[in-house]
Amino acid sequence: MPKPAEKFDAESVRTSWDEAADPYAEGQAAGRDYYRYEFFGPAQVALCGDVREMRLLDVGCGNGYFAREMAKRGARVTGVDISPRMIARAMQYESVEARGIDYHVMDAAMLPAGFPAQSFDMATSCLALQDMPQVVKVLSGVHALLRQGGRFVASITHPCTDTPLRAWERDAAGNKRWLCIDRYFDCGPLQFSWSGWGADFTTEAMHATLEQWVGWILAAGYELRALKEPCPTAEALRSHPDLEDAARVPYYLFFDLVKPDGGFHEATDNAPHSRRR
Ligand SMILES: C[S@@+](CC[C@H](N)C(=O)[O-])C[C@H]1O[C@@H](n2cnc3c(N)ncnc32)[C@H](O)[C@@H]1O
Repeated sequence: MPKPAEKFDAESVRTSWDEAADPYAEGQAAGRDYYRYEFFGPAQVALCGDVREMRLLDVGCGNGYFAREMAKRGARVTGVDISPRMIARAMQYESVEARGIDYHVMDAAMLPAGFPAQSFDMATSCLALQDMPQVVKVLSGVHALLRQGGRFVASITHPCTDTPLRAWERDAAGNKRWLCIDRYFDCGPLQFSWSGWGADFTTEAMHATLEQWVGWILAAGYELRALKEPCPTAEALRSHPDLEDAARVPYYLFFDLVKPDGGFHEATDNAPHSRRR
């Protein structure tokens, strides 16, 4: 169960993720992160569609999982993350399988600084926005960097089920009976303890309501193209039966956003509007 975070600012977040970077990457290498590899990662990749030749910004790229998935599919990827250690881990992958990814250590709340306006065709963020203390600034900085008509495809933990009070009720045999959630409207930063990843670590994230998230997105100037609540595929459930909990209640939420372009153009996967009203 998370507890209220004492600090949630750029410095505390950088420190937490620097300390998390090694156990996080080692846990992933040991197969701990199958919710990502078998479930929400492929679902977010699929939502991105055809990214070939796109200039793509991955925000809160961590050790580069999503940046690499996009680069493998032909995007020209820039990744930014506040944690130097996370970026160092990303660079280690880059030295093994060079994907030409351009990594930067920076607080995403500083965007659009460092890049020319409208210099990206697309932006992505994989489970990172809820970890950012100044998410409203991040949303607006990314917006300034997107070309008109460019998409921002972002995932967060689902705000309706990842609440300050959250626990699975279990039967005598340990089977999950139902998910107990409470305190949905108690918004603010929380501290999460991670165990089972080699070394234990803590990170902070912000709980906000769905209404707040959508309000911030619209205020930053995006159009909401779609909301998605991914569910594990039958194949993923066969290989990892304990993903079944995520087939009962939504664990993740995807935002498919677009920066309006103010004109007419052909409707394609990554140019969603045939007509802007
Ligand atoms: C849960 S990890 C996700 C990393 C990566 N996207 C992935 O899918 O593995 C969250 C990441 O957000 C980064 N982060 C948190 N606040 C940030 C900020 N203000 N600017 C840039 N990155 C930030 C953390 O350093 C961490 O790497």
